Amino acid sequence: MSIVKQPQADALKKPHLNLAVVGHIDNGKSTLTGRLLLETGYVDEKGFKEIEEEAKKLGKEDFKYAWILDRLKEERERGITIDAMHVGFETSKYFFTIIDLPGHRDFVKNMIVGASQADAALLVVSARPGEFEAAIGPQGQAREHLFLLKTLGVNQLIVAVNKMDVVNFDQKRFEQIKNDLGKLMRLLGYDPTKVPFIPVSAVTGDNIKSKSTNMSWYNGPTLLELLDALQPPPRLTDKPLRMPVQDVFSVTGAGTVIVGRVESGVLKNGDRIVVMPSAKVGDVRSIETHHMKLDDAKPGDNVGINVRGIDKNDVKRGDVIGQLNAPPTVADEIVARVVILEHPTAIGVGYTPVMHVHTATVPTQFIELISKLDPRTGQTVEQKPQFLKKGDVAIVRMKPLKPVVVEKYSDMPALGRFALRDMGRTVAAGQIIEIKPAKVEIKT
Ligand code: GTP
Ligand code: MG
Repeated sequence: MSIVKQPQADALKKPHLNLAVVGHIDNGKSTLTGRLLLETGYVDEKGFKEIEEEAKKLGKEDFKYAWILDRLKEERERGITIDAMHVGFETSKYFFTIIDLPGHRDFVKNMIVGASQADAALLVVSARPGEFEAAIGPQGQAREHLFLLKTLGVNQLIVAVNKMDVVNFDQKRFEQIKNDLGKLMRLLGYDPTKVPFIPVSAVTGDNIKSKSTNMSWYNGPTLLELLDALQPPPRLTDKPLRMPVQDVFSVTGAGTVIVGRVESGVLKNGDRIVVMPSAKVGDVRSIETHHMKLDDAKPGDNVGINVRGIDKNDVKRGDVIGQLNAPPTVADEIVARVVILEHPTAIGVGYTPVMHVHTATVPTQFIELISKLDPRTGQTVEQKPQFLKKGDVAIVRMKPLKPVVVEKYSDMPALGRFALRDMGRTVAAGQIIEIKPAKVEIKT
């Protein structure tokens, strides 16, 4: 029995939001997340009792909420099957999937390469004297995470000022944090007046599910109400079909089965489809998810499709399926906005890391450094820089060394954001702003 309950079918019918919980070390991310799971009925009672007793014995009662997440991590490591997509909690409007953030390298990888891309972020900052100051200081992860979220285009943010119990629920401390953090956010390009700030205590539960009686000076919504007020991700149903391929099988009796997630558009039974970059054309015979037949697949649906006219060897992971009237774009060159996350020296023209974009990986060469931007304002600070180093934000031209399908980030975020990796590290993250398409002929 897992510590976290699996959602019922009804919960999964609610719109999904991926929530990234971010913030500086020890500011209470795990505690607050555990508390959210508990308050929304997603923690197994028996499992939690065990944790409570253990924590009590060790005199570490405050740790019991964070241990919910630790236990979950353990279960994952021991290989107990937990559907990673479905670890989360439910508010009245949404089902939230939590994106765990151990370190920033994994964070970026999760956000860009992984299946889970954040629709919104919950920034946790501690009100404890010194902790908040460290979080927004030069080495602070609150600062770093805010910067990354901005760069990756995650625009919905809630700030939870946590550990209010430690400062006797003092309104002045809350206002001071709101003011100081607001200044930093403005520097990073946010409008802090549009971001809700809420004082909470993950340990005592104040303002999480019910209004705090310790902070009658706060008359805003509770944290669960704020989560409910987030905007759902844009529906990409009206856009052309794009389904990046995750896997391909040849099934005896059925033929070729292609597995992937529809990112935009609608795929219908009987549709004529094209696989790019190979330009192979075929027809959809059936669509399945979890052994259920579907008439169509919409954005967010993970499906297996049985196709006629396409051989298993004509399709591979990283290809993208579309329809003939608007086939997926194969890129000859791209122009992208990149942020250099880490690189031991400097990046110049000719550097060729591997681009990870949707399910594809392709060696991609920097062919022009167009301009360097001020990361805080987006203003150009240098034309045609000689090289780029850690922390730089730049507009660059790149050339994939093999055919690959991409789209502009503004059209289809899932096909327009990428990570650049080299020697097992994420060197940079970026968004595609322009594409010079390659000519690909489709024979029908
Ligand atoms: P990392 O995962 O290491 O980055 O830390 P984290 O942000 O997940 O913090 P965590 O939840 O582990 O909490 C760190 C410490 O702060 C623990 O000792 C918690 O018990 C304590 N803590 C978290 N929230 C609160 C709170 O609201 N009040 C009090 N008094 N302590 C808290
Ligand atoms: Mg933690």
